[in-house]
Amino acid sequence: MNLVFLGPAGSGKTTLVWKFGEFLKGENYEIFRVNLDCAVKTLPYIPDFDIRNHFTLESIMHRYSLGPNGAMVKSIELIWRKREEIRNLCKKKEFALIDMPGQLELVIFQERKLSDIFKHDRSVAIFLMPADLIENERDYCFLRLLNLAVKFRIDMPCIYVISKADLIERKWKMRKVSDSLSEGIRNLLREIEDSQRLIYVSRNGRGFEELFSLVHEAFCTCGDLS
Ligand code: GTP
Repeated sequence: MNLVFLGPAGSGKTTLVWKFGEFLKGENYEIFRVNLDCAVKTLPYIPDFDIRNHFTLESIMHRYSLGPNGAMVKSIELIWRKREEIRNLCKKKEFALIDMPGQLELVIFQERKLSDIFKHDRSVAIFLMPADLIENERDYCFLRLLNLAVKFRIDMPCIYVISKADLIERKWKMRKVSDSLSEGIRNLLREIEDSQRLIYVSRNGRGFEELFSLVHEAFCTCGDLS
């Protein structure tokens, strides 16, 4: 199964690929970690497939005379050319954890969506809503709407989680995000999509078992994740 980590820049994708991968290994699953971010300098884990072994942001900038943004867009095209190799490698292990490039718009809003590499296989997208971006219910609602936009663009089940949950504890004093929503916002979110229970994950391992269950439920025929 492919776990495709998506979310705004700095939302904790790399950290979860690392730590959730360790959790899965601890549960005796075979894992395969894929880094598709050619701009990243250092990683906390050793990827089994690393796009930087093929090209880096600097090499693309140099080769195609592009600035950093143009080079990131170009990298999507170059990764796309390697899609069969990546797919086949991922299929060999029980879980492949895919570390997507930092900028969500590059992954989802380009003509070629990187997530499409995995859409024909058993794959779940995990959309991270980082706690440090959530100061109030409008921020939360914004991230849920962004998640909804992502869901419209990708052809695979997509679950959402609050990442960096330890920061909520500091900022919100243990208050649950969902408890603080006004009735109007609740109704809006109910209107626009099926509900899913909200889970909180952080690099210290919090929420990993719930995330694991939710990933499996994403394939449940009843489709009820509440
Ligand atoms: P890009 O790929 O660059 O967009 O980042 P990313 O989404 O992969 O996020 P990354 O894992 O690099 O984390 C960004 C920053 O958040 C780093 O400084 C991490 O150490 C920090 N971070 C990640 N997870 C957590 C967490 O659970 N709690 C806290 N407090 N910080 C975290």
